[in-house]
Amino acid sequence: MSIFVQQKIKHFLKYKRKIVHMKVCDSTNEVAKRRSDLPDGTLFIADNQTAGKGRLGRRWESEKRSGIYMSLLLKPDIAPNNAAQLTLIAGLAVAKALGGEAMIKWPNDVVIGSKKVCGILTELSHGSLICGIGINVNTSQFDDELKDKATSLAIVTGKRHSPEKLTAAVLDEFEPLYRKFLKDGFSALSEEYKKLCITLDKSVSVLKNGSEIRGTAVDISADGGLILQTENGRITVTSGEVSVRGIYGYV
Ligand code: BTN
Repeated sequence: MSIFVQQKIKHFLKYKRKIVHMKVCDSTNEVAKRRSDLPDGTLFIADNQTAGKGRLGRRWESEKRSGIYMSLLLKPDIAPNNAAQLTLIAGLAVAKALGGEAMIKWPNDVVIGSKKVCGILTELSHGSLICGIGINVNTSQFDDELKDKATSLAIVTGKRHSPEKLTAAVLDEFEPLYRKFLKDGFSALSEEYKKLCITLDKSVSVLKNGSEIRGTAVDISADGGLILQTENGRITVTSGEVSVRGIYGYV
């Protein structure tokens, strides 16, 4: 565990929390699950991950120090079927912290332009919620498979960024949103979410239980679902059950 990285994050942090920094681990989500005895709000962060996980069983590229790999251990008193809303809140926090052109691709990607800069994987484990956030910070290039759909902050801005400063910015955006969510529910945040949601007004294709639904994303429901206008009327899909792709590209 490196005291140095912890101190640097703490230095920038407004809302203090316990931080566990590791030079390397399998996956910060897995470490958070193993250490769910630690307090609500504990941050696990690693310089690199040997088994970084993405959604839908995919791998998350976790090259040493080129990105932020972190997980928040949360113990909110909410119904398990509202847990997916925390993914939306984490996405909102990241988009706000990145600022500029950063937008949310519902439910859990943050994009700049039409490329992904951040992915979020929220998992439930023994009554705790693990919210894993991966941000491409100083990655200078992506391989052929990813280069058309992924970008990094360094590629977009043409300069390197401090991962510690950005980590603190994300956490400080997250905390007031999380508190409001616990007090008033997701509906209190949905207008703010919608303003940064790039998916709205787009033609999308939603994969649900192996079948494809096409429609236009018209709204976000009060509980964070995506409302689609389809040929057969309006439907609402919830984030846990779908994979969304723009019909004219990634977003
Ligand atoms: C996705 O877009 O598929 C989600 C990616 C989530 C990646 C982060 S990196 C930190 C945390 N630990 C993991 O193994 N995954 C998440």
